[in-house]
Amino acid sequence: MSRDRLSPDAFDALCASHRDGFSLPQAFYGDPRVHALDLERLWRRRWLFAGHASRIAQPGDYTLFKLGDDELILTRNAQGEARALFNTCTHRGSALCLEPCGHAAKFVCPYHQWVFDADGELRSARNMPDDFDKASFGLRRAHIRELESLLFVCFAEEPPDFEPFANAMRPHLKLHGLPRAKVAATRAYELRANWKLMAENFFECNHCPTGHPEYCKAMAGITPPPRVEDREAERAHVETQRAWVARRGLAQQLSFEAGGWFHLNHMPLRPGFVTQSLDGKPVAPLMGEHTAYEAPAFAIVAYPNFWFEAGPDVAVTLRTLPRGPQELSVEAEWLVHADAVEGRDYDLERVMGLWKATGEQDWALIENNQRGVNSSRYRPGPYSPASEGGCRRFVAWYLDQLRKA
Ligand code: FES
Ligand SMILES: [Fe+2]
Repeated sequence: MSRDRLSPDAFDALCASHRDGFSLPQAFYGDPRVHALDLERLWRRRWLFAGHASRIAQPGDYTLFKLGDDELILTRNAQGEARALFNTCTHRGSALCLEPCGHAAKFVCPYHQWVFDADGELRSARNMPDDFDKASFGLRRAHIRELESLLFVCFAEEPPDFEPFANAMRPHLKLHGLPRAKVAATRAYELRANWKLMAENFFECNHCPTGHPEYCKAMAGITPPPRVEDREAERAHVETQRAWVARRGLAQQLSFEAGGWFHLNHMPLRPGFVTQSLDGKPVAPLMGEHTAYEAPAFAIVAYPNFWFEAGPDVAVTLRTLPRGPQELSVEAEWLVHADAVEGRDYDLERVMGLWKATGEQDWALIENNQRGVNSSRYRPGPYSPASEGGCRRFVAWYLDQLRKA
């Protein structure tokens, strides 16, 4: 759809007004023209996390994935392969799927009943001549990949190489058994904030000591234990967990290597915590290749919209999608072993406890941030070199993407 565009000169002037090591000028957090550019140059070009593959477990299952004016039908064909089809009929453009998710043996357009299969091939076109070439009117496709049952899509004609990401993640994800997991709970949040404020928030733990008491209680290394003897015990515990990672030949950390777009790390828990729970105790049966509650927490970030945290018994995915210059959808999913039964093997409140609390604390901080950024007296401020380097790196990557015409 046509929109007011930022002229190349205005864009250059805006970029030039950004000072390295500082938060972004106000326009980046709310100008609709910057938002349009964000979608065009970044969101429509990158791999985006779409959700756990159980959304489309069986052939014919579908779920819609929306970005800007585009909707994709994510589905699975008869061979079990995931497909991403643009939700626009090749007859005269009607949306085909109207419900956010469901099951369809065929996709029948509600307007004039053209019929498509799960590969997007046109199977029948009512009232068209006998020699009508159906093969030329298949649904347009986007790219889709399935990595250890996590779905990623890309709107670009030529997507960035997915393999370096997949190769780095696969051995680490394997441990967590996501193909044998189920979604125990989902929470959707609509934030009144620009998506970059959420990203910046998640790239620093400067706010953790005051903002996230539950998280700090569980994780080693954020705030030191008050008693000296506890510090010693924590150091020893951290070493044990690092050794656990090393014994399995996994990386302690891989961080945005070669200007890359992904990061993973293992984060030691405090003594007395075997998973990211409120009380330190297990919340669900072991998942994947875990044979005991002894691993540190594991996290992934992939620009621009995938956040993942896992322990031996629960994994949490976060999917963010911008809906407007100051509107952001965040969807959180909690995954547990597929055979685990609620009420018998796990209690949902305990499964969700730490990340529900921590996430909701962040959503409030992010909305407060936006509220203040909208002030006529907002000016970009300096990132802490000691604890906000991740924000600086994110902003540099972001501006780099936008400069690629
Ligand atoms: S617009 Fe879909 S069949 Fe006419
Ligand atoms: Fe936070």
